[in-house]
Amino acid sequence: MKTDILLGLQWGDEGKGKAVDYLTPAYDVIARFQGGPNAGHSLEFNQVKHVLHTIPSGIFHAGKLNIIGNGVVIDPIIFQSEIDGLKPHGVDFSKLLISKKAHLILPTHRLLDAAMEAAKGKSKIGSTLKGIGPTYTDKTARHGLRVGDIFLPTFQARYERLLEKHAASLKQLGYTGDIRADEARWMEAVAFMRQFRCIDSEYEINALLDAGRSVLAEGAQGTMLDVDFGSYPFVTSSNTICAGACTGLGLAPSRIGKVYGIVKAYCTRVGSGPFPTELFDATGDELRNKGGEFGATTGRPRRCGWLDIPALKYSVMVNGVTSMIMTKPDVLSGFDTIKVCTSYMVNGVETDRIPYDVEAVVEPVYTEFPGWKEDISKVRSYDDLPKALRDYVQFIEKAVGVPFEIVSVGPDRTATLVKA
Ligand code: GDP
Ligand code: IMO
Ligand code: MG
Repeated sequence: MKTDILLGLQWGDEGKGKAVDYLTPAYDVIARFQGGPNAGHSLEFNQVKHVLHTIPSGIFHAGKLNIIGNGVVIDPIIFQSEIDGLKPHGVDFSKLLISKKAHLILPTHRLLDAAMEAAKGKSKIGSTLKGIGPTYTDKTARHGLRVGDIFLPTFQARYERLLEKHAASLKQLGYTGDIRADEARWMEAVAFMRQFRCIDSEYEINALLDAGRSVLAEGAQGTMLDVDFGSYPFVTSSNTICAGACTGLGLAPSRIGKVYGIVKAYCTRVGSGPFPTELFDATGDELRNKGGEFGATTGRPRRCGWLDIPALKYSVMVNGVTSMIMTKPDVLSGFDTIKVCTSYMVNGVETDRIPYDVEAVVEPVYTEFPGWKEDISKVRSYDDLPKALRDYVQFIEKAVGVPFEIVSVGPDRTATLVKA
């Protein structure tokens, strides 16, 4: 069997949690492959909304295996509180596996994240301050702590060695607080983690595929936040693209099947960095308010703007997207006109390429569409959607060369239309 992948094609928060939860019945295994608790994946059913940060979004379906892959970074404290929050919902945690090779976020990683952001001043990235950057930095610098280390007799010594490095860096950054303030709580959460099945998940996942089991790999963030292909340096610290599923789960490229790219019907971005179609006017406010565009992890207001086709085409290209999923077109109901950016003007030249320089002045070139007035949140068949929306969907398909397979019209599991 091959592994299908679901990932964000914009700047994150496209609705990955909802889509993965919806698709889970068709799979045996759901596996997160990168990112950490910077992610906030929301899903909703039976009038209850859940937000997951570390745990894969397949966790609510009985009998499905959920794997946290080696490419993920885990904060034990956040992991424990996520588990505690899920306990009243009858989740079966014996079906949750954690890669021993996933890296651990220490309290000092969070302090470093904050200190480094503060040092950047005006050029700050707008990090979620969850310690993501410093943890991946330690991973590639080859002195990080991994989940498997918590079972070793040398764990405490390894922790102390890393803490010493962090103490030196924090001192250099002018941090004067107590670096051990959260240590006891963190150690408690590490002890809590030991009761979970921590394994070399690359063996497990490949064996499952060999046995004919189906796997859906769940991405975090979005392609435009990829450390290589996003708007560097305003990115996260992992490979959010399709290839990240290979390194983040131990999968050969030949094991990749379908690649679902998820697209919000407009664009949002949290944190700093280029956003050519960003709206600073009443329309932007309307998108934010109607779409409830406030971060699932940090509560920050999301920057909002029209759909960006050059960025979408770029994401489709680097991911090899085979089908797309659209979310939140219901938020566009009631707008007289809907705009789509089809190319950019950069230094007086029209282009559909994203400029290398994140400081380049990019003017979006728009195509306008008539809006629709109907409330579509109760529609349950694609053909019953207003023609103006179906035209919008078709325009995007044609522009990027990939079909939409699913259109979501609300946060609930049931508000999901399969497009024939
Ligand atoms: P993720 O990080 O990609 O999983 O996305 P988030 O959970 O951060 O943000 C998506 C938000 O949109 C959440 O509040 C979802 O409940 C909500 N959502 C998902 N799909 C739809 C949709 O089709 N319509 C509306 N109105 N909301 C949606
Ligand atoms: P999900 O999985 C939206 C953004 C941050 C910041 C930048 C770097 O829910 O889509 P980091 O904490 O990773 O060092 O922050 O990336 N960011 C996200 N934006 N959705 C996310 O995750 C994000 N995870 C990180 O706002 O701009
Ligand atoms: Mg999110």
